[in-house]
Amino acid sequence: MAIRWPPRNRCLFLLFALLNSLACIVFMMLFFDAGKSGGLFESSAEGLSEGSDKNSRQLTGDNRMLSPARRQPVNRQNEKDSFRRKGPDAVLKGYQNFLGNKSVKFQCNQCAIVTSSGQLLGTGAGREIDSNDCVLRMNNAPTKGHEEDVGSRTTIRVVGHINFGRIFGDDPAFVEEIFVNASTKTDSVVIHWSYLTDIDTRPPKEYALAVKLAQTHPNVSFNMFTPQKMVYAEDLFLHETGLIRSRAKTWMSTGWYTFLLAMDSCKQINVYGMIWGDYCTEHPDKEVPYHYYGPAFKAECRYYHASETRLTGGHLFIMEKAVFGRWAYAHNIRFHYPLWPARKLRPDHSGLLTPFMLRYQAAQNRLFSKLAFWKLFFHFSGLFYPLVH
Ligand SMILES: *[C@@H]1O[C@H](CO)[C@@H](O)[C@H](O)[C@H]1NC(C)=O
Ligand SMILES: *[C@@H]1O[C@H](CO)[C@@H](O)[C@H](O)[C@H]1NC(C)=O
Ligand SMILES: *[C@@H]1O[C@H](CO)[C@@H](O)[C@H](O)[C@H]1NC(C)=O
Repeated sequence: MAIRWPPRNRCLFLLFALLNSLACIVFMMLFFDAGKSGGLFESSAEGLSEGSDKNSRQLTGDNRMLSPARRQPVNRQNEKDSFRRKGPDAVLKGYQNFLGNKSVKFQCNQCAIVTSSGQLLGTGAGREIDSNDCVLRMNNAPTKGHEEDVGSRTTIRVVGHINFGRIFGDDPAFVEEIFVNASTKTDSVVIHWSYLTDIDTRPPKEYALAVKLAQTHPNVSFNMFTPQKMVYAEDLFLHETGLIRSRAKTWMSTGWYTFLLAMDSCKQINVYGMIWGDYCTEHPDKEVPYHYYGPAFKAECRYYHASETRLTGGHLFIMEKAVFGRWAYAHNIRFHYPLWPARKLRPDHSGLLTPFMLRYQAAQNRLFSKLAFWKLFFHFSGLFYPLVH
């Protein structure tokens, strides 16, 4: 029996069907177009070929990214100076205490940056980690129950403001573990503001929570990245990647800010459990959990890839690794578990042609993405990319 639609509903149905087919056509065009450019979604190896030279130059806006033959060796001193472009203030006034309103300086010889990666599971690196003068950890990464692999000391815990609210907002047991219990507590906490730079004028709600916890836990020093330092971090991202963070619809990870803090505070930095940018393409069969303490089903490489191939937010984990590799060339930084081969610590920008960068450039340059409307579609299609692959 045929269904009889009331006339009004029939109209709506037809309209819906029409819109639906339009959307289908648009998406087919998008993916067909994306597929044609070849290697757009492929590994960064594609980007290193000759053909990408044009892209490379657009990447930075200056001509530091030249073809291999013309590439100049990077002056290490210039590299170091680049961190001080904002003048000494950016470094000296980089951190501030929540109570007392005074700037803070951390000083350590050897630092351990302990990542939260599942790469650390089964390494037995705990003792080596604890032997560093300062041990830096991130967000809610626990030591309890994982001492063997990640160590038990925490000197500084770097936490993003959004995570700070989520982690410590209403979990007294975890507050106790991180700020009170002598065998698991941190000496200091340093909050970064993810993508905010106007903390002075419009402090987010997490600011008040940090002040409250600072008052109730006098044995822990509560500090923050200053607004100037947040601006500096954004400038540095532009300097390193050629991308304006807000326009690229991304924000830097807690790892990025932990590196900044460590480079300001430590003579030597040992990083534990961090993979290099194209590790996942080189080890396609290795399944490692994203967090050593998290659910096993969330695989590190799959998560990194999904984050890098969408144009609509999230962290650029793979691109950040390429930048860290560059920093390691100019600073005293070593990567353990896995041990980074020397070829990953290089001064050039070739590692920056990550899946995100290639996609981003394609979105900028594609003929029909010049029209704002199509650009919008292209950006949103990034949302679906992890679902269809
Ligand atoms: C911190 O001190 C500076 C000057 O030293 C002042 O301008 C600022 O308002 C103070 N901030 C707070 C939260 O007290
Ligand atoms: C502190 O943490 C240790 C190690 O996790 C645990 O054995 C101990 O019971 C805790 N102490 C208190 C008072 O909760
Ligand atoms: C601070 O640490 C001291 C010594 O380690 C301890 O005696 C005191 O109870 C701690 N205070 C708080 C509020 O946890």
